[in-house]
Amino acid sequence: MSVRPAWLSADVLRLPDPAVGTEHALAAQEAAADFEALPPLHESWRPRKVGIVGAGTMGGGIAMAFANVGVPVVLVDRTKADVERGIDRIRANYNHSVLRGRLDQTVADERLALISSSDQMEALAQADIVLEAVYEDLDLKRQVFVEIDQVAAADAILCTNTSGLDIDRIAGATGRPDAVIGTHFFSPANVMKLLEVISGKLTSPGTLAKALRIGKLIGKVTVPSGNAPSFIGNAMLADYRRETHFLVEEGAFPSDVDARLEDFGFAMGLYKVADMAGLDVALDARRKEMLTRPRDRRYSDLGFVPVEMGRFGQKTGAGWYRYEPGSRTPIRDPELDVALIEHSKRLGIPRREIGAEEIVARCLYALVNRGAWLLEKGVAAKPGDIDAVYVTGYGFPAAVGGPMLWADEVGLAAIADDITRLHDQFGYWWEPAPLLLDLAATGRRFGDLNTRMEVAP
Ligand SMILES: NC(=O)c1ccc[n+]([C@@H]2O[C@H](COP(=O)([O-])OP(=O)(O)OC[C@H]3O[C@@H](n4cnc5c(N)ncnc54)[C@H](O)[C@@H]3O)[C@@H](O)[C@H]2O)c1
Repeated sequence: MSVRPAWLSADVLRLPDPAVGTEHALAAQEAAADFEALPPLHESWRPRKVGIVGAGTMGGGIAMAFANVGVPVVLVDRTKADVERGIDRIRANYNHSVLRGRLDQTVADERLALISSSDQMEALAQADIVLEAVYEDLDLKRQVFVEIDQVAAADAILCTNTSGLDIDRIAGATGRPDAVIGTHFFSPANVMKLLEVISGKLTSPGTLAKALRIGKLIGKVTVPSGNAPSFIGNAMLADYRRETHFLVEEGAFPSDVDARLEDFGFAMGLYKVADMAGLDVALDARRKEMLTRPRDRRYSDLGFVPVEMGRFGQKTGAGWYRYEPGSRTPIRDPELDVALIEHSKRLGIPRREIGAEEIVARCLYALVNRGAWLLEKGVAAKPGDIDAVYVTGYGFPAAVGGPMLWADEVGLAAIADDITRLHDQFGYWWEPAPLLLDLAATGRRFGDLNTRMEVAP
């Protein structure tokens, strides 16, 4: 029997009525992009052509999203070989859908015919939406925006697919920062429903109106976010992932954490997701960050354990799990368990048995507390937006409504008490958001804030 931690008072495994959760999740998605104060955009406005810079994973997926609704796209990359690789991948994706009987060959051909390509930036001149999807590197993106600025039409809006870089720094590379906006798609971009739209300081309401319109056109759930590091979804993910790593360092195994999160209703545990995405992503950036870390808080380097064993995820047959050749079924691997136990020993952390309640509480509290901070700082406009982000972009169970509805249903008073105790005991990462404490103290719910519609400037 695992011990219930002393700081835990809430009944975290009690879930809302699935009908309530599902209805909330749908309403939150509907209300996300519902701005009253935007300039009118003619009802029939739609882009005549979309230009995409960077024909990689995201650029290709975004191109398909537009071609799928009949909008012509031009895909630009550095060299003919880069462009061809991008087009080949798109063709393979359409072929795959045809082979599985999900798409008619003629429709696939028509869609593919809408996607042209070039290794010259001048090809973007006819586009009224230019979307950048090159590597996640601020200097590179700024350079690419200088080039886009030179060739894009005067009334084009210029979008960046950055996962979390400063939109103002990117916009500042152009002579028209009012036309620049963040459009953060999720992978695969032709499938995933979520689109975070990030206005910079100088982004004009007209630019925002067009970005929201294109989101609607391609069938996305479009959620506005303030321009803060990692925006809404990935900022919350950082806290959530950190807690899963801490749990593993303290005694859980990745398969335990994933199983408990899947029992809760998540589409997939974070360790399985990581194996799919690849564990070697942004390794250099992560190593660099280690050099400037503040010393007053706990960090986890657990992510380097599999990487240093050459386990990069599904693509190498092993990551947080192992995979039989040709299979994508994750299997717990005793070889990794040994390395994880060794890692805890190195840190001087005695491993203990950790139960479902603690796993769910720490992961969900991390999401809820960060969500409350994002509301406090105006990065998220309303709690429903956070719920829409988590349900559509991060596999959060729609039947639970979203992390903020979950918190309302469990009870903010108990959650605020628990997080305060966690903060007293473990410090920095658990500093409770004043908004959470205030709602708890006044007997209100996050849901009471769902009438607020605007993102703070
Ligand atoms: N992969 C994801 O899951 C994901 C999710 C959301 C957002 N993003 C963001 O999307 C962006 C692209 O990511 P990706 O995974 O598609 O990367 P990728 O490596 O698959 O593709 C990047 C492409 O950009 C091209 N490129 C590089 N420099 C260029 C230049 N100067 N001019 C034209 N093309 C250039 C490369 O040749 C490559 O084809 C990044 O900002 C990333 O953070 C990625």
